Amino acid sequence: MTLCTSRQLVPTKELLKKALKGKYALGAYNVNNMELLQAIVEAGQELKAPLILQVSAGARKYANETYLIKLVEAALESSDIPIALHLDHGEDFEICKACIDGGFSSVMIDGSKHTFQENIVITKKVVEYAHERGVSVEAELGRLAGVEDNISVSEKDAIYTNPNEAREFIEKTGVDSLAIAIGTSHGAYKFKGEAKLDFERLAEIQKAVGYDYPLVLHGASSVPEELVKMCNDNGADIKGSKGVPEEMFTQATQLGVAKINVDTDLRLALTGAIRKCFKENPAEFDPRKYLGPARQAVKDIVKHKIKVFGTDGKA
Ligand code: G3H
Ligand code: 13P
Ligand code: ZN
Repeated sequence: MTLCTSRQLVPTKELLKKALKGKYALGAYNVNNMELLQAIVEAGQELKAPLILQVSAGARKYANETYLIKLVEAALESSDIPIALHLDHGEDFEICKACIDGGFSSVMIDGSKHTFQENIVITKKVVEYAHERGVSVEAELGRLAGVEDNISVSEKDAIYTNPNEAREFIEKTGVDSLAIAIGTSHGAYKFKGEAKLDFERLAEIQKAVGYDYPLVLHGASSVPEELVKMCNDNGADIKGSKGVPEEMFTQATQLGVAKINVDTDLRLALTGAIRKCFKENPAEFDPRKYLGPARQAVKDIVKHKIKVFGTDGKA
């Protein structure tokens, strides 16, 4: 389905190919409502950055897919940067098909909870359906579990992406990009102790899949201390949080990562700003008075990410 706008969405395959060549990465930002969408698109537009907007099954349920699509149409009409609309963590063929039929330009089939062979079968089915319709597909190999500091080599091998499997998986499925597990996890509590990613493994994966193949880093929020502080200073109780240090993204990008997923940092910015408004103005109950600053806080963090990932000026 094409969208009801003069401007269309771009498949992620095109955006990631360009990013790989230019050795920068695209942020993929999770959207759940109008304020998040406006913040992300305004940030991209101001910095002339291409964007990947991503929607999870939970977001589709929360906001209603029709509303989300109409909001994205409005975003296309009020900007001139390349924008992709991507399904985040699609768990089966049916949700991927619904999003492809509904106008998304990219989907993720997350078969990582299945066996290697089952993951190949389900991913291949999605790839066939998507490619016939010009839609890009991301898959996942390995598990994005939080791992302890002192994890053994065999435990690591069971969780992290195996380079040879990655090559075989891509050959057998024809998938356009691959999410890999090298030590990140979703949410605000990624590491106990020092933040560590397995860059040696990432280099081996890059070598195995080819230097022109785009890899995806999930669970890549940095959980900035100042955002956690803004939440905690205004009544939250977030303890022991830790994200991916920003300097690691440069290394990841040099090793084939072309898409970096960010949700948690947007949640922290939005929540912190709303909490601050409530604390400072307990008598306020006009939603525009707290959602406005919250939208601005999300826009600020997205602009920061765009610069860190090197996406500014690449539209
Ligand atoms: O990877 C998960 C994303 O942060 C989306 O989270 O399923 O709660 O919308 P969600
Ligand atoms: P974070 O929880 O680190 O923001 O990761 C988001 C993500 O990977 C969405 O798919
Ligand atoms: Zn994810």
